[in-house]
Amino acid sequence: MCRSCVTTTEAPNWWLTPPAEASGEPGAAEQEPPSERPTGWDRALEGLTGEVLTAKEADQNGPSLVRFSDPAGLADWVASLLLRERQLRPERPLGLATGRTMEPIYASLARQVQELTPADRQELRKRWCSFNLDAYVGLDRADPRSFAAEMADRLTSPLELDPERVHLPDGRATDPQVAAECYAAQLAAAGGIGLQLLGLGLNGHVGFNEPPCDADASCRCLELSPATRHQNAGAFGGSPEAVPEQAISLGLREILAADRLLLVVTGAAKAEVLARALQEPPTPELPASWIQLHPRALVVADGKAASLLDASRKQPQAAIRGLA
Ligand code: GLP
Repeated sequence: MCRSCVTTTEAPNWWLTPPAEASGEPGAAEQEPPSERPTGWDRALEGLTGEVLTAKEADQNGPSLVRFSDPAGLADWVASLLLRERQLRPERPLGLATGRTMEPIYASLARQVQELTPADRQELRKRWCSFNLDAYVGLDRADPRSFAAEMADRLTSPLELDPERVHLPDGRATDPQVAAECYAAQLAAAGGIGLQLLGLGLNGHVGFNEPPCDADASCRCLELSPATRHQNAGAFGGSPEAVPEQAISLGLREILAADRLLLVVTGAAKAEVLARALQEPPTPELPASWIQLHPRALVVADGKAASLLDASRKQPQAAIRGLA
């Protein structure tokens, strides 16, 4: 997985469409034809309103980005992709994430599933298979602060899924490292992730892969950084000390092995880390930057999170379009 671009100093091959085009003002009509979508995403994106227009040669040139000015539009769009992934490729596990960024996405997914025909809903439930990225060590599934409880509230209950089909690492295992290895084996036995949904930590983590983290790090039990415990303190009464010290997380190895990556980033607080993750050479110091190595990575961001992306670093090989 570690290819030559790990050490390159070249700017990533993608660019932002100017805001005038994103808002539908003059110039928008000059976008590339819709047939040129990111390689490998065609079926998933087919028919969705407000699509990525193009990322030519995406297989060679790393992530494409879709920018939304409307947060609700972003959530609906991502939820549509997740639903479509389950419907089109039920044989491949879906990789899921937790966190505040994902809240409106799961809410939209629940609404969209509700709008399916009873037969389609039943089919979706029958064939559901998802693997979450991570779990805190030491929290029971029933603990409301656990990611298992979060997924039960946001996904399993609203969609009326069989909990056995919604997989998370076992944070209560006696030996969390063994539990991590079992989880990786379970995922491998299920065929590996098809589409992996990712959020972004303020320190550049994906899942709980804290910096520094190599691109080949595998699923493991790891120590959470003070920054992450601070970031996630909200669910623990605002106290970083109350956040567990350890977690089990899929590694960059399992994440980068997914067929497609979908990184979702919202809010001004993440603008800087997103810009670094996409515009600087991949580095262990910024685990999210490894997604640049993935041939089918799509980044979905709101205007605030995308605000520091540097359009002047654009390259002609790939294109991105903002959506009003
Ligand atoms: C958390 C989780 C990640 C999540 C990220 C962003 O610590 N381990 O899976 O995507 O950090 O969280 P949020 O969306 O709440 O900012």
